[in-house]
Formats: sequence, C-alpha cells, structure tokens
Amino acid sequence: MTTGMDHLILALDVEEVDEGRELLSGLRGALKYVKIGHQLYARGGAPFLREIQAMGYSVFLDIKLHDIPNTIFMAVGALASEGLWALTLHCGGGRAMLEEARRARERSGARLNLLGVTVLTSFDEASWAEVAPGCPLAEALEKRAALCRETGMDGIVCAPLDLPVVRAAGAGLFTVVPGIRPAKADDDQVRVMTPRKAMENGADYIVVGRPIVNAPDRITAAKEIAGAIEEGLAWRTK
Ligand code: C5P
Repeated sequence: MTTGMDHLILALDVEEVDEGRELLSGLRGALKYVKIGHQLYARGGAPFLREIQAMGYSVFLDIKLHDIPNTIFMAVGALASEGLWALTLHCGGGRAMLEEARRARERSGARLNLLGVTVLTSFDEASWAEVAPGCPLAEALEKRAALCRETGMDGIVCAPLDLPVVRAAGAGLFTVVPGIRPAKADDDQVRVMTPRKAMENGADYIVVGRPIVNAPDRITAAKEIAGAIEEGLAWRTK
C-alpha cells in the first residue's frame, strides 16, 4: 500500500547547500523524494547528492541533459553510478541521444529512472515559433512524448494541463508533474493545478517546491499535500 508521500517530490530550490541540508534534516523520515536542480547541483555537486541519499532520500537530479549522443552516453554513465532515483533529459536532443542515454543506463546496471522533458513550459506559441518554425507547440509536445515511449524512457515530466496528451502519446511511462499549488498562490506559476486534481488526472508523482519550502511548518505542509494526493488516488481507483 502506497501513501501520498510515495508520490510527492520536494523541489529543493534553495540558494545554498547549508540551507538545503538544514531543510532536509527537518523533513527526514516524513518525506521520501527530493528534486535537485542546477543551482544546488552547481553548489554541492555529487558529494551533496551522496549526502542527501545517506540521509535516506531518493534523489531526482533535474538537469535536463541535452548534448550529442556520445557525450550523453558518457554523462549518463557517470551519473548512473551515483545511486540516483531519476535524471532528466531534454527530448530536444532527439532519438539517438535518448537511446544513448538508455544504453548507458543499461550498461551501468543502475536502477536510475530516465525522464524526458518535452517542451519547456516557459515557451508560448510565439517564442516556440522562433526555435521551431512550422511546428505547433501542441504537436511538438505530442511527438516528443511519443519519442520518450519509443526510446524506452521511464517517465515524462509535464505540466498538469498537458497530462491527457502526454499520457496518451507516452502510454506506459510514468508522469512527474510540477506546477502544483495546494491553493491560490502569489507567485510565477500560472498554469497550475491542485495536488488532488493532478492525481485525479493521472499524475504519478507531483513536484512541489515553494508551498513546502516557504511554509511556516514544512512537515504539516508536506503532510497536507500527501493527504490530498491520497484523496486524488482514491478517486482514481474507485
Ligand atoms: O516552487 P514550485 O513548486 O513552483 O517548484 C516547481 C519546480 O518544478 C521547480 O524546481 C521548477 O523549476 C520545476 N519545473 C516547473 N515547471 C516545469 C518543469 C519544472 O515548475 N515545466
């Protein structure tokens, strides 16, 4: 039997390693998954990833790798030995790149989950047309989700509103969904969904940062979100 916490990933978006360390020691035992992005990875590197894992956390390294296939093969090979739970790759790198990532993971024997990032949610139609003339954003999203399936990725990162398209085109892959807000928040996330609704719509994991990081009581905030996840899961299975 899984609990809500088995589906909740904390985005550890803080400036310094010390801050992250302190935050995670406060949530130890309550929370399972932690997402590390570029900033903390730049600060703490692999030693920080190992430290968090030694605290009992499963680590999701979100650095959206995007390079030529051979370079990605070597990078994934190096990261696969770090014991990570998941790693993101940018689908813009194409089929050969994703296949090489998978081959590196297989060669390593690691249980690392490879997650495809389809189209960054910061794009709108106009900015997308500048980098991908002639291809509507919705079509790119669908094609890239299908590419994740065809190349044997394990999961896809997607915005909550993209869940229906991504789940259809990327059938069989698990979905990891940021842009979650328990209630109306005054920040930069626009296309948001509540934890319960995201789970009802088929999310497998949700990523939450500021609603937990900035909460006066982080354990309570995480537990409330885990409770909402359970409600969404119960709705889905009834
Ligand atoms: O604080 P908040 O809950 O908005 O954090 C969401 C996390 O998910 C951040 O680390 C952000 O970079 C990431 N993310 C996102 N939207 C995407 C992909 C990743 O918000 N489409």
